[in-house]
Amino acid sequence: MTTTDVGIDQLGIYVPRHALPLDRLAAARGVPPEKISVGLGALAMAVPAPWEDTVTLGANAAARALRAGGIAPDEIGLLVVGTETAVDHAKPASIFLHELLGLTSRCRTFELKHACYGGTAGVMMAVDWVRSGAARGRKALVVATDIARYDLGSSAEFTQGAGAAALVIGAEPRLLALDAGTGVYASNVWDFWRPLDRREALVDGKFSVDCYLDALGGALADYRGDAAPVMERMTALLYHTPFPKMAQKAHRRLVEREHPELDPDAQTALFERSYAELVEPWLWLARQAGNTYTASLYLGLAWLAEQRGAALEGRDVGLFSYGSGCQGEFFSGRFVAGSGAHAARIGAAALLADRVLLDVAQYEDFVREGARGGTPSIDDGALCHLTGVSDHKRHYGRQEAIA
Ligand code: HMG
Repeated sequence: MTTTDVGIDQLGIYVPRHALPLDRLAAARGVPPEKISVGLGALAMAVPAPWEDTVTLGANAAARALRAGGIAPDEIGLLVVGTETAVDHAKPASIFLHELLGLTSRCRTFELKHACYGGTAGVMMAVDWVRSGAARGRKALVVATDIARYDLGSSAEFTQGAGAAALVIGAEPRLLALDAGTGVYASNVWDFWRPLDRREALVDGKFSVDCYLDALGGALADYRGDAAPVMERMTALLYHTPFPKMAQKAHRRLVEREHPELDPDAQTALFERSYAELVEPWLWLARQAGNTYTASLYLGLAWLAEQRGAALEGRDVGLFSYGSGCQGEFFSGRFVAGSGAHAARIGAAALLADRVLLDVAQYEDFVREGARGGTPSIDDGALCHLTGVSDHKRHYGRQEAIA
């Protein structure tokens, strides 16, 4: 597979400052804590405050990406927001970000949706925009931003979370060059959905796990074609992570598909070895922030890039994006020379270190207040806040100029 000169120039992420340790939620719901920490592999979930929504999370991630990359607003010619937590049925989140980030009017902006795949859809579209020449030297900003919400007291409640990732896509990228060949899989299934009148998603949980694994198998087959197994050339494998155990199940499926010639014991040995090396170390943000839907895969990329830094330069990574409903895509890229310096500016570990831990009553208060929509902003160190809703219009505040 050839590596092109289009890819991720800079990555920025943001997770809410508040988090709920899941052992506290398990105690409140009468669930054994090991079912969550071991059974799902999850330790905490990020909880959006009432003054946060997908616009503020996305704007905060995007501002961090632009700053870290030293990218001026007038370099951005395309702004795409992938989200399944839209704030309006017609007005796109992207137009709020466009204003909050101070981008120029010479910019195309829109929002797109395909469950958790929406961010990757934006990445693929942006890469094609750059490769086609339509970008005319400018860069694209793709923002994946979401809040995972299920009914309080449901088994899926433990797989909530919130966060955003912003990817600046351009030619001669300074972080990760993306390979031109990708593999896709699409199928109409009812594994997870959210009707227009609901804040919380509906899900057929166990079926959704099967749909995810089917999509992985299909996308991987499409990516590989008749080529040799790809696992051995990867320095890391990143999977969409609704809960960390899902990445483990996904990797097991990948090993089975990549090495059908091995007997079950040999497959298990290969799975255990490769999971510990290629997958598990990059799940830490997912363990701490929960499901971030469109952003999930890119939070994994952020943790990998920041933790391994310059050691990744010249190394390949494989990524699997999944959106319920469903769409899967397997793709890959190579960390470029000098990428360690850009990875060091992501600041993911610092975001986690600065968190405030909630108790269950505070979490439930945030959920109730959030449903009512916005309060005066609180100084939580973030750049953008929801300041209120009046006449069905959402108002946002920005604490300081970005550029
Ligand atoms: P559940 O009913 O809570 O869990 O649902 P379970 O009974 O299946 O148990 C979960 C695991 O815990 C099992 O392990 C148990 O054995 C284990 P597994 O067999 O799977 O390896 N367990 C224990 N382990 C240790 N000690 C114990 C113990 N008890 C049980 N005492 C489910 C779990 C994930 C289905 C639920 O949380 C849910 O519905 N979540 C939402 C849906 C979801 O995340 N689906 C993932 C695939 S679809 C996807 O990724 C797309 C998505 O991100 C949305 C989008 O695309 O927009 C969701």
